[in-house]
Amino acid sequence: MPESWRLMLPDDMAAVEAVAAVVHPGFFERTEVLTERLALYPEGCRVLERSGVVVGYLISHPWDDGAVPALDTFLHRLPEVPGTCYLHDIALLPEARRGGAGSQAVIELIDRAGRRFPSLSLVAVHGSAPFWERHGLRIEDRPELRAKLASYDENARYMRRIF
Ligand SMILES: CC(C)(COP(=O)(O)OP(=O)(O)OC[C@H]1O[C@@H](n2cnc3c(N)ncnc32)[C@H](O)[C@@H]1OP(=O)(O)O)[C@@H](O)C(=O)NCCC(=O)NCCS
Repeated sequence: MPESWRLMLPDDMAAVEAVAAVVHPGFFERTEVLTERLALYPEGCRVLERSGVVVGYLISHPWDDGAVPALDTFLHRLPEVPGTCYLHDIALLPEARRGGAGSQAVIELIDRAGRRFPSLSLVAVHGSAPFWERHGLRIEDRPELRAKLASYDENARYMRRIF
């Protein structure tokens, strides 16, 4: 089935939310919060389309190194001198997984981010750390982030790849 990543558009937001509701039922975020990220940094937001239907998305944005935005909160503005490219989320519907689409998006993100940012960072949830390790990210134990990570899930891990 033809499948490809493209830039996210404001009209995709309902489909993005529908994917988020399936993939992250425990991590509710308001539409406005996701819409704000798209407005602040459209080039960091992509959707995976299969036969014209959105089956996945990726949201990233410049951020401060070592910092993790709380879930369901507005960013308001991006840092003037970003220390990292922060991957807010990548989520594929179950039927779109394990076919290489996630890796393709991450490889392209690393290629873009590596030219503009000192690092790529994220919070790994759903036990996805091995996926990120395949892409060169490493778990970092940051005591100052423990409380925030616990608000994601008990096995959430802060991970970073330095370029
Ligand atoms: C994580 C995710 C984006 C990966 O995308 P994908 O297209 O399924 O991954 P790929 O096909 O490119 O790579 C698959 C490989 O990554 C690894 N992998 C993928 N998801 C994994 C997971 N949850 N745990 C451990 N390893 C995982 C496996 O090694 C797998 O290889 P295998 O199929 O040979 O075992 C996708 O599975 C997903 O959306 N998961 C649910 C949401 C999520 O956890 N997002 C990450 C938030 S930080």
